[in-house]
Amino acid sequence: MIDTGLNIAAIRKDFPILQRKVNGYPLVYLDNAATSQTPRQVIDVIVDYYSNYNANIHRGVHALSQQATDAYEQARIKVQKHFNAALPREIIFTSGTTHSINLVASGFTGFLKEGDQVLVSAMEHHSNIVPWQMLCERSGATLKVIPMTPEGELDMEGFASQLNTRTKMVFCNHVSNALGTINPIETIIRKAHEVGAVVLVDGAQAAPHIKADMQKLDVDFYTVSAHKMCGPTGVGILYGKEEWLLKMPPYQGGGEMIEEVRFEKTTYAGLPHKFEAGTPNIAGGIAFGAAIDYMNGIGMEAIAHYEAELLAYATQKLLAIQGLRIYGTGREKTAVISFNIEGIHPYDIGTLLDQMGIAVRTGHHCAQPIMDYFKIPGTVRASFSFYNTVEEVDRLAAAVEKARQMLS
Ligand code: ALA
Repeated sequence: MIDTGLNIAAIRKDFPILQRKVNGYPLVYLDNAATSQTPRQVIDVIVDYYSNYNANIHRGVHALSQQATDAYEQARIKVQKHFNAALPREIIFTSGTTHSINLVASGFTGFLKEGDQVLVSAMEHHSNIVPWQMLCERSGATLKVIPMTPEGELDMEGFASQLNTRTKMVFCNHVSNALGTINPIETIIRKAHEVGAVVLVDGAQAAPHIKADMQKLDVDFYTVSAHKMCGPTGVGILYGKEEWLLKMPPYQGGGEMIEEVRFEKTTYAGLPHKFEAGTPNIAGGIAFGAAIDYMNGIGMEAIAHYEAELLAYATQKLLAIQGLRIYGTGREKTAVISFNIEGIHPYDIGTLLDQMGIAVRTGHHCAQPIMDYFKIPGTVRASFSFYNTVEEVDRLAAAVEKARQMLS
């Protein structure tokens, strides 16, 4: 029925967890927007690191340290190439998107003043709202909101009307975690730059589906979490244009981020180390590189094509269920379906789905302003990956229908 172009059965064998049962049923894992599953190829890299060359990096002359340093820096180059950043030093390893955004928010404190404005889209994850509210409290700047339409798309006229010479920064996700909307970030970046504003794009939900090109986008900052794209938790990156990374002060002080330390004065290391204080998640960084290799081995275009077909099929199956409403019906979407059934709490549906071996996320998805906009407490969110199948969509639809009957 779906022309996959991919050997999904073979791909699924790479993921040990997909072979397990939950509550007596074969697992149907549809919580990929929260975290993706990890293929054997990535797990093996972590095991190999701890089994064979676990050592601290950038610090030792001994063989293990050099091997670990080489592998870690190779991973940085893999990330740089994947996202087409101009330079490896524009890739800062962090613990993930939240860390990356807080790093920039901290760095810009001294660059903003009272009267300045920052613009944040109405469909952000809390991690792309709260750090900017905190920045506004520190700096005296004012936070403005780019409005949203009932389809769950950004209101681009509303965006344009908010932009002016006082707008210093614009924040937007590439893909909404709660709705799946793919935002027109090319236009947002171009228009923001026309008034001299700096743009940070949260790429956490886009990176598993879309290969973003930093130089083509001309974006100032872009953030990614490895665990959403087949990598481990606790590692991610901040991409930053070199000019901004040079201007920004360090985020944290400590080892590795210094050039020289004297009690009278400390000087800081160059990029990227200035922003990488302390021992990083070395195995995680190396495994992130392996995850990128794995996804490129399948092919990002093939992944996007297959997931689009899966989304279309699942949308049609779910919409056939009585009283089911999908939130996020924009023209450009990744494979995320947020829905509710009239008169039933999302948590109750999620609980029954779990009893049938189906993992979804329920609640506000760390995006309360979206839920307020739709005047709902939350949604049930099924988020798909390239290793999901048509049969799993069928199981989801049948289970949602069963839950509807039981809860109506
Ligand atoms: N940001 C993750 C999600 O959307 C945790 O579920």
